[in-house]
Amino acid sequence: MDLRFLGQSCFELTDGEHNVLIDPFLSQNPKAAVGPEEVEPTTILLTHGHADHLGDTVDIAKRTGATTVAVVELANELGGEGVDVRDPNLGGTVKFDWGWVKLTPAWHTAVSPKGTPHAPAGLLINFQGTVIYHLGDTALFSDLALVAKRGDPVDIALVPIGGHYTMDRWDAITAAELVGAKTVIPCHYDTFPPIETDAQAFKADVEAATNSEVVVLAPGETHSPG
Ligand code: NI
Ligand code: MN
Repeated sequence: MDLRFLGQSCFELTDGEHNVLIDPFLSQNPKAAVGPEEVEPTTILLTHGHADHLGDTVDIAKRTGATTVAVVELANELGGEGVDVRDPNLGGTVKFDWGWVKLTPAWHTAVSPKGTPHAPAGLLINFQGTVIYHLGDTALFSDLALVAKRGDPVDIALVPIGGHYTMDRWDAITAAELVGAKTVIPCHYDTFPPIETDAQAFKADVEAATNSEVVVLAPGETHSPG
């Protein structure tokens, strides 16, 4: 599988047949690697409905027919706009032919741009046997470890490091310790001035404190786990 970083919290998982697109904030993201017309997802997964995550979901989903997974209140809003949705709540798992996604807790707030309050989530994903934990927008909390130890070990953790709206790069070191992934990929930084941070310093700190390898991806770059 390939994992491509598209900016902010947006990632695309690809196996050549299925394209799983997470948090497609593209047209309004000054650092986005591609425009919303350049992606062809078969599935869209949302951590929550803040504009820097919901992004271009409705346009992309309606153009491609991609099934979209979001927490129930947000899914209901999107379903009303004509998107094909799956609507779990926290703890729920949705199965696909490529694997599954489980919504996990995240300590954050969330109201959609249209005013729908909902619980923000992390995403625990099994994509063709690779376990990916997208932490979503969250502060540091100890149950990150509980999520990470509940099944197969986490291969890749996608961790926000920008601070201000989420944990910062120092709290994210502890998050990386709690999750214990083989590979940590930082996200949710440098898109706007309040979340500018030093990803290379985060890499050095995590690799000194843990057994995880940190892979820093610029928007548009792809990580292919061995
Ligand atoms: Ni948010
Ligand atoms: Mn955000």
